[in-house]
Amino acid sequence: GKVRAPTHIISTISDDRGEEPCYAGVPMSTIIERGYGVGDVISLLWFKRSLPRYCTQFIEICIMLCADHGPCVSGAHNTIVTARAGKDLVSSLVSGLLTIGPRFGGAIDDAARYFKDAYDKGLAPYEFVESMKKKGIRVPGIGHRIKSRDNRDKRVQLLQQYAHTHFPSVKYMEYAVKVETYTLSKANNLVLNVDGAIGSLFLDLLAGSGMFSKQEIDEIVEIGYLNGLFVLARSVGLIGHTFDQKRLKQPLYRHPWEDVLYAK
Ligand code: ACO
Ligand code: LMR
Repeated sequence: GKVRAPTHIISTISDDRGEEPCYAGVPMSTIIERGYGVGDVISLLWFKRSLPRYCTQFIEICIMLCADHGPCVSGAHNTIVTARAGKDLVSSLVSGLLTIGPRFGGAIDDAARYFKDAYDKGLAPYEFVESMKKKGIRVPGIGHRIKSRDNRDKRVQLLQQYAHTHFPSVKYMEYAVKVETYTLSKANNLVLNVDGAIGSLFLDLLAGSGMFSKQEIDEIVEIGYLNGLFVLARSVGLIGHTFDQKRLKQPLYRHPWEDVLYAK
């Protein structure tokens, strides 16, 4: 019979050996002929299936809404400083990307993990928040440096409106909103932030679309696919900030002495 030489790599998402490359079995020409967008391509390459239009549009909305948030946030600041140090595009980009994590933009997976666990266990929102406090863990997806009860994050509202109109169920998001109601009773800035909105709504997308088994949902949440949405989105803005600094011929950045407390 046929003897198969052992391989060192297994790959299941794309194939470039034929006449045209395929993403999850779908040829490039089909992607173009059917007018697929970046949400469809993400569905194929990350989730290995074509998702319904309302899901791919939700993915695209996440990418558009998270593409940038001004020059003052951690990621853009790092990128700007790096570009002004004369570094190239990739260095400036990754310098910004490296700030994405538990405090900034990278709380989506943990928000999904903790909201899912608490909801599935039937914990009342206050029980969940208080149990996190006991463990000394800040609730991922809650809190913002500049957004508050009276200055809500428009991105969160837009995502919620879209899901209310298009998703069959928004039970995880509604749970996250109840958590927010409780945390807002403690402090004004403990709003549901964009990471928490995407984390909870993606749980609703996965559970409500009928396209994923329970086991697949658990795997997606456990591996942590969802921070990828912020990483991908913010790359658009960080690349823009790099070009902006180069275009403006900005000199080397040096932080002013006056803004540092030199303490003993
Ligand atoms: N859960 C519970 N309590 C909180 C939370 C939270 N998520 N955030 C703040 N607090 C409380 C704590 O008591 C905190 O005191 P501590 O420092 O002793 O823990 C107190 O509020 C003071 O916090 P602030 O100084 O007002 O918060 P700060 O402005 O420094 O932090 C941040 C903002 C980093 C977003 C914070 O709320 C947080 O860690 N949230 C969880 C992570 C998260 O969701 N990050 C994504 C933000 S959205 C984005 O980056 C795109
Ligand atoms: C962002 O998207 O970068 C923000 O939510 C963070 C911030 O502090 O504005």
